[in-house]
Amino acid sequence: MHLLRLAAASLAALLLAFPVAAQQKPKPNQAYEPQVGQAGKDVIWVPTPDEVVDRMLRMAQVTANDYVIDLGAGDGKIAIAAAKNFGARSLGIEYNPEMARHAQRNAEKAGVSGRARIVQGDIFVTDFTHATVITMYLLPALNLKLRPQILAMRPGTRVVSHSFTMDDWEADETSSMDGRRAYFWMVPANVMGNWLLEVTGGGASEKLELTLEQRYQKIEGNLGLGTIQGGLRDARLRGFNIAFSYVDNKGVRRDLAGRVSGGRMEGGFRADNGTEGRWNATKK
Ligand SMILES: C[S@@+](CC[C@H](N)C(=O)[O-])C[C@H]1O[C@@H](n2cnc3c(N)ncnc32)[C@H](O)[C@@H]1O
Repeated sequence: MHLLRLAAASLAALLLAFPVAAQQKPKPNQAYEPQVGQAGKDVIWVPTPDEVVDRMLRMAQVTANDYVIDLGAGDGKIAIAAAKNFGARSLGIEYNPEMARHAQRNAEKAGVSGRARIVQGDIFVTDFTHATVITMYLLPALNLKLRPQILAMRPGTRVVSHSFTMDDWEADETSSMDGRRAYFWMVPANVMGNWLLEVTGGGASEKLELTLEQRYQKIEGNLGLGTIQGGLRDARLRGFNIAFSYVDNKGVRRDLAGRVSGGRMEGGFRADNGTEGRWNATKK
C-alpha cells in the first residue's frame, strides 16, 4: 500500500511540476508537440521509459500471434514497440485526439502502421476485451476501476502495468529496473465451486466430489473420500491451466493437470504407484 501511495504521489508530483504544460494548447497549424505532464482525461501523460516498455512486453511474452492493447496510449510507444520489436498486432486507445493523431504518425514513422493503430477513445467506454495482452500506465484507482472487466476477459489474457498494482489481486511477477516496477498478471479461469470429478486409470474409475475455493489465481480445495474430506495439495491455477494433487484412501498420491473450459475441466494424471490415466470434472 505504501508503495502504491508513493507511486501515485510521484505521478501526482509530476502533474504539479508541469502546470504550464498542462494548460498549453498548440496553436492551429503548429506541429503538435506533446509535453510530459500534460493533462489527460483521467491521468496525465508521462511516457514509460524504453527499458520498462521492453520488459513489460517480455514479461507478457508477446509474440506475432498477440493482439496487444495499450490503455491510455500517449505517444503510442508501447503499441509501436509491440508491433516493431515483437511482430504483434497492436492498438493504443488514447483519449486526447491530438495525441492519438500524433501517436498514429509515430507508428507511420516507425514503419508499423499496418500492424499498430492508435485510436481516439475513452478506455472506460471502449471495448478492449478482444486483446490477448493488456498494457497500462495509469493510476491505482484506474487499474481498480478496470479490474472487473479485465478479470472477465478470456482466461490466459496477460496484463502488465507500469508502476501500479491491482490492489488485492496480487501480481504473478514483479520486475524492477532503474527504480521502477512493472507488474504482470494472467487472467485466471473461474473454477470456484463444486465439481464432480471422474478419475479413470489402471482399470478403475471413480467419481469424487471436488470443492474449489478461489481468490483470483489462488486456489485450494478438498475432495470427498468417503467420510473423509481429503485436502488438495499443490493446487495451482494459471490462466486456464489447472493442477492439483490428492492422496486417496489407499495412500496413493495422484498428480492431476489439465485445462478448464467453462464448466468443464479435463486432463491427465500420474500416480506414485506408477499408474497413469485421465480425469475430467463437470461443474455442479
Ligand atoms: C501515464 S500516460 C501513459 C502513456 C503510455 N501508455 C506509456 O506508458 O508511455 C497515460 C495516458 O492516458 C491518457 N488517458 C487519460 N485518461 C484516459 C482515458 N479515460 N481514456 C484513454 N486515454 C486516457 C492520457 O492522455 C495519457 O496519454
